[in-house]
Amino acid sequence: MDVAGKIVVVTGGGSGIGRALAKRFHAAGAAHVAVADLNFDAAAETARDVGGTAFHCNVADEANIRHVVRETEKIGPIELFCSNAGVISADPDFDNAASAPDAVWMQGWSVHVMAHVYAARALLPQMIARRSGWFLNTVSAAGLLSQMGSAVYSTTKHAAIGFAESLAIAHKDHGIGVSVLCPQGVQTAMTQGGFFAGADVDGILTADAVAEAALEGIREGRFLILPHAKVAEYTKVKAENHERWIGGMAKLRRRVAAMRPGHAG
Ligand SMILES: NC(=O)c1ccc[n+]([C@@H]2O[C@H](COP(=O)([O-])OP(=O)(O)OC[C@H]3O[C@@H](n4cnc5c(N)ncnc54)[C@H](O)[C@@H]3O)[C@@H](O)[C@H]2O)c1
Repeated sequence: MDVAGKIVVVTGGGSGIGRALAKRFHAAGAAHVAVADLNFDAAAETARDVGGTAFHCNVADEANIRHVVRETEKIGPIELFCSNAGVISADPDFDNAASAPDAVWMQGWSVHVMAHVYAARALLPQMIARRSGWFLNTVSAAGLLSQMGSAVYSTTKHAAIGFAESLAIAHKDHGIGVSVLCPQGVQTAMTQGGFFAGADVDGILTADAVAEAALEGIREGRFLILPHAKVAEYTKVKAENHERWIGGMAKLRRRVAAMRPGHAG
């Protein structure tokens, strides 16, 4: 899909990867970029940069997504919807994968999965009728592999891949495309504050580099967009021998645990 002349929506567009996506799509000739974020001021700043519109939107609330879609469709049909908003929090106890409270699990589920379902619900009827449209869902390498220290993030990002696969399979014959953007570490607000300290083994990319990879992936019509090439290797290793992969990850976790403050040694 070529974004030139298309109307695009980006959620979580006030910061990081979302802001970079909005700017890259604008530079590639998008007709209009709507920027939706929980942080309206941040969305407005991105919207100013791209000559688009800003929305205050909590993607966990279906009515908020419907509002963004309805208002943007007044300009014209939405051809590309990027469900990009995301949140991460560390398991309260690094040594207990079930330690996050229910509220944190529900937030991960709402923001990383249901938000994607709400966007699809709001747009599929129009896209099916037009026989065109594209969903770009920012997931993570954690949706294919794992995120050490956040079972909520790993689990809900896996579920995001599951929904995107269902969407792609069910609607390929309707002319609708789906891509999942699955980077490892990216230099954004999310990776500041030390959560990822010691866990990044393959380098941190800029948000601009990830947006570039996303644009290229959509142009080529790819489902899986992997800005870090190593992720393709790791997923292959995982598929070939799940036991070995779990063993390797546990070994890496031991190394990360040893670097954590307060580790006994
Ligand atoms: N930074 C990384 O290393 C990395 C790696 C892989 C995947 N990702 C994914 O990329 C996406 C973007 O993250 P980022 O790194 O740019 O982080 P970021 O914190 O810079 O941006 C996230 C944006 O989402 C918005 N947001 C959060 N909850 C929201 C909600 N309920 N409704 C609407 N907006 C909401 C925030 O206000 C913020 O502007 C996320 O889905 C994240 O999981 C990030």
